[in-house]
Amino acid sequence: MAMRTLGRILLAILWVLVSLEGALSHGDHPFSRIAIHKAVLAINDHAYIKASPPVLGLIEQNSEWVTLEYGIPNPSIDDWIGVFSPANFSAATCLPENLKVNPPLICTAPIKFQYANYTNPKYNQTGKGLLKLQLVNQRSDFSFALFSGGLLNPKLVAVSNTIAFANPNAPVYPRLAQGKMWNEMTVTWTSGYGINEADPFVEWGPQGGEQRRSPAGTLTFDRKSMCGAPARTVGWRDPGFIHTSFLKELWPNSMYTYKIGHRLFNGTYIWSHIYQFRASPYPGQNSLQRVVIYGDMGKAEADGSNEYNNFQPGSLNTTKQLIEDLKNIDIVFHIGDICYANGYLSQWDQFTSQVEPIASAVPYMIASGNHERDWPGTGSFYGTMDSGGECGVLAETMFYTPAENRAKFWYSSDYGMFHFCIADTEHDWREGTEQYKFIEHCLASVDRQKQPWLIFLAHRVLGYSSSPYYAEQGSFAEPMGREDLQKLWQKYKVDIAMYGHVHSYERTCPIYQNICTNKETSYYKGTLNGTIQVVAGGAGAGLSGFSTKPNWSIFRDNDYGFVKLTAFDYSNLLFEYKRSRDGKVYDSFRISRDYRDILACTVDSCPSMTLAS
Ligand SMILES: *[C@@H]1O[C@H](CO)[C@@H](O)[C@H](O)[C@H]1NC(C)=O
Ligand SMILES: *[C@@H]1O[C@H](CO)[C@@H](O)[C@H](O)[C@H]1NC(C)=O
Ligand SMILES: *[C@@H]1O[C@H](CO)[C@@H](O)[C@H](O)[C@H]1NC(C)=O
Ligand SMILES: *[C@@H]1O[C@H](CO)[C@@H](O)[C@H](O)[C@H]1NC(C)=O
Ligand SMILES: *[C@@H]1O[C@H](CO)[C@@H](O)[C@H](O)[C@H]1NC(C)=O
Ligand SMILES: *[C@@H]1O[C@H](CO)[C@@H](O)[C@H](O)[C@H]1NC(C)=O
Ligand SMILES: *[C@@H]1O[C@H](CO)[C@@H](O)[C@H](O)[C@H]1NC(C)=O
Ligand SMILES: [Fe+2]
Repeated sequence: MAMRTLGRILLAILWVLVSLEGALSHGDHPFSRIAIHKAVLAINDHAYIKASPPVLGLIEQNSEWVTLEYGIPNPSIDDWIGVFSPANFSAATCLPENLKVNPPLICTAPIKFQYANYTNPKYNQTGKGLLKLQLVNQRSDFSFALFSGGLLNPKLVAVSNTIAFANPNAPVYPRLAQGKMWNEMTVTWTSGYGINEADPFVEWGPQGGEQRRSPAGTLTFDRKSMCGAPARTVGWRDPGFIHTSFLKELWPNSMYTYKIGHRLFNGTYIWSHIYQFRASPYPGQNSLQRVVIYGDMGKAEADGSNEYNNFQPGSLNTTKQLIEDLKNIDIVFHIGDICYANGYLSQWDQFTSQVEPIASAVPYMIASGNHERDWPGTGSFYGTMDSGGECGVLAETMFYTPAENRAKFWYSSDYGMFHFCIADTEHDWREGTEQYKFIEHCLASVDRQKQPWLIFLAHRVLGYSSSPYYAEQGSFAEPMGREDLQKLWQKYKVDIAMYGHVHSYERTCPIYQNICTNKETSYYKGTLNGTIQVVAGGAGAGLSGFSTKPNWSIFRDNDYGFVKLTAFDYSNLLFEYKRSRDGKVYDSFRISRDYRDILACTVDSCPSMTLAS
């Protein structure tokens, strides 16, 4: 949409808002609590919308289907239903919008919406419909509003009764992450209980053994922490409280159970469900270790409803495959572009709900992507508006990462025979920067005899991709990505460097300076002589396509999928690419080698030896 048109719409909204101020401030007519412009102008006494059941989560579930029944005398195919939470969708200042985000242009965005004719093909004739929507517990009550006029010119015609979860404040959506130490697991969750109401903690212990309690820290933030619209305007929603507890001194590979608790100051305890996880292996420990890696998964709605940046059609399939195979997965890396909330904060609750079965059971390690971090004038390496004004605050708070400074999203993580170095492509990585020093230190600090599998992860493609964008821009698409970092990958003999950002799958030959260093394509024995570069950004967001196939590209797939690495022992690694539609393997390779193969020198990988004796 042209900027001018958008401007005019906004002006109109502002004008109506101002002119409704008086009308909205009195009485207890249901609409008097609503500050959506134009809305009141379209009240129709013959239109209705009813929601049931009135109370959700009666058996302590945090997600439930609701049924809406609605009718309108003069239906149109672009009538739609917005779900609001809090139900009283209060007025907020309607500031200018980020041009990258989609309508609806209302002052408090609904948390989801759907066309009234969805599953009601006769709606346009009968004016009656029935809709089933899935709601997740996100700390507030809900109401449903029927609009005519489409998304661009919404006219509120009816508002439903209010419904709510039995305990809207309940602790929900635990997500595990590796702590700073290998034997520490962190549990992060969301609740409606602040530090002035309750003490948050995790009750945990060995499965079947004695349980103990560990306290949790609490974080939150306010609208002013957001850097721009929509996060600061229509997309703002109270984030509640985000708690993290540190479960320490775990026994390697042991099973633990845990549940989340809040002790209210009047003595009442509020509990979550019971969950379990397996503690991480000791770094260097020789045991079966299985790692799943993908980027750009995003979220989608099982009820088919729309979200604000509704372009992650593969997300639910990927989530489903991971849940089905969870007993064969030990840790997950979601390398950036987490949920594409893009400033609509309600989407983070919905995403953490979607991945709860995974993230509550295995460490869910994230990297920062453009959709989490980028915002002009806020220190991101790229000045785009891709984060919708979140400027990293949501990602840095909703998920724990063992970074020294969570705003600088780079960190290392050990998982048994794996050593991971996770870079932050939304901050400068070029030679001479703080991050470059970190990357070098991370790669250098691994003892390859104990941790032979060295993996570099980042969101944007710092290495190789033949997607149209990178093909056009060349290796400088991400400035000095390949040029600066290949020295490090080569020197420290990184096995695999993996990225997201491009929404497809691609694997290269082992490569150094644009030249394949090894002719093999599926069974690598001995040294690779270079680094295998992989794009695994096809976990959910709309697919990217490819340009002409370069000679270093071995396998490409323009479908939704993810990567799984299996370390059998110090000498055998299996790499698999699976499609999200069926969970089957479409590309794979193995590496078999001895420790001395890693020590052996290849081009530019060793300092010259002294001849002195
Ligand atoms: C339902 O509404 C949408 C949005 O206006 C429209 O694209 C679609 O064609 C409609 N479907 C039917 C069956 O009328
Ligand atoms: C709406 O409800 C929330 C709590 O759910 C409350 O904090 C807020 O003041 C209410 N706003 C209005 C305009 O009633
Ligand atoms: C919907 O119904 C209205 C009035 O009955 C009619 O004017 C319009 O053409 C219909 N639209 C579609 C897409 O069927
Ligand atoms: C403590 O407060 C909670 C929440 O307000 C309430 O549900 C509960 O009944 C109270 N318990 C006691 C013992 O007062
Ligand atoms: C691939 O093409 C580049 C030039 O585009 C060339 O330098 C290189 O030798 C070719 N072959 C391999 C295996 O990399
Ligand atoms: C790796 O490089 C070394 C030295 O350049 C060479 O001798 C060896 O054949 C290469 N190995 C493979 C598998 O290409
Ligand atoms: C999801 O998986 C189903 C079942 O395999 C498939 O039919 C569907 O096309 C997949 N969706 C996408 C977007 O790939
Ligand atoms: Fe991205």
